[in-house]
Amino acid sequence: MKRIAHISDLHFGRVDDAVVEALVDDINAYTPDLVIISGDFTQRAKRREYCDAKAFVGRLEAPWFAVPGNHDISFHHLFQRFFDPWRRYRRYIHKEVEPTYEDDELFVVGINTARRAAFELDWSHGRISGDQIERTARRLKRAPDHKFKIVVGHHPFLPPPYAPDTRVVGRADEALRMFEDHGVRLALAGHLHRGYLRVVEPAAVDPRRTDVRPRDAAPMVVVQTASATSTRLRDEPNAYQRICVEDGKAVIRARVWSGAGFDHAVEVDPDTTQQFRAIA
Ligand SMILES: [Fe+2]
Repeated sequence: MKRIAHISDLHFGRVDDAVVEALVDDINAYTPDLVIISGDFTQRAKRREYCDAKAFVGRLEAPWFAVPGNHDISFHHLFQRFFDPWRRYRRYIHKEVEPTYEDDELFVVGINTARRAAFELDWSHGRISGDQIERTARRLKRAPDHKFKIVVGHHPFLPPPYAPDTRVVGRADEALRMFEDHGVRLALAGHLHRGYLRVVEPAAVDPRRTDVRPRDAAPMVVVQTASATSTRLRDEPNAYQRICVEDGKAVIRARVWSGAGFDHAVEVDPDTTQQFRAIA
């Protein structure tokens, strides 16, 4: 059995300090085997914000695994943005922006979905390149069959069930098909500051490929988590997900900031639940 804490969108520079303190205590009290952080450590990629983010991960007692988000690239230092966008991330957080993690039960692969620029005015949207699809597939191929496979990105792979027009990461459909082909069970992300889970039905990815995975196969679930500590909230309180993996099955429970501490919101078994909002 493995315990995972999935947190996202910390946004140091715009955090509630009381929430940060409670979050560190709540995660450490859970004694997870792994903490997964799906990007946006900082608000503006400033040195001071990165220092705070580094201090935060330094207080986690479990090993942690992270990918960057769009806020982790400087918006003000254009030279750095274009020529060395991940310099500060690599210096303060981790040298690898697409890490892998493996233990006796879990196999976790990161995808860096943030982009230094885009052919549009808003550069906050994310993409997955063809090279990243291939590289991630090669990594997943190395995973032993019995391990529980998880992919982590910053931008969402599926929109919220209650807001289907929400923009998702570029090449999301192709990525989800590839994840399915390689037996991925959970696809974790953030960015929207909204928590929800969605079971990925093969037909929802591409109706022509219903043969890819038998209907009775273990489901792949998209796990989105709200912002863990930011004061920039979108109709949802700060929250994170606790994921318990046992016998090839995951149970996911949201921990939601109540104003005084983190408490359970809902308990969900993805094998039986189709769609829901993680925050009741
Ligand atoms: Fe983001």
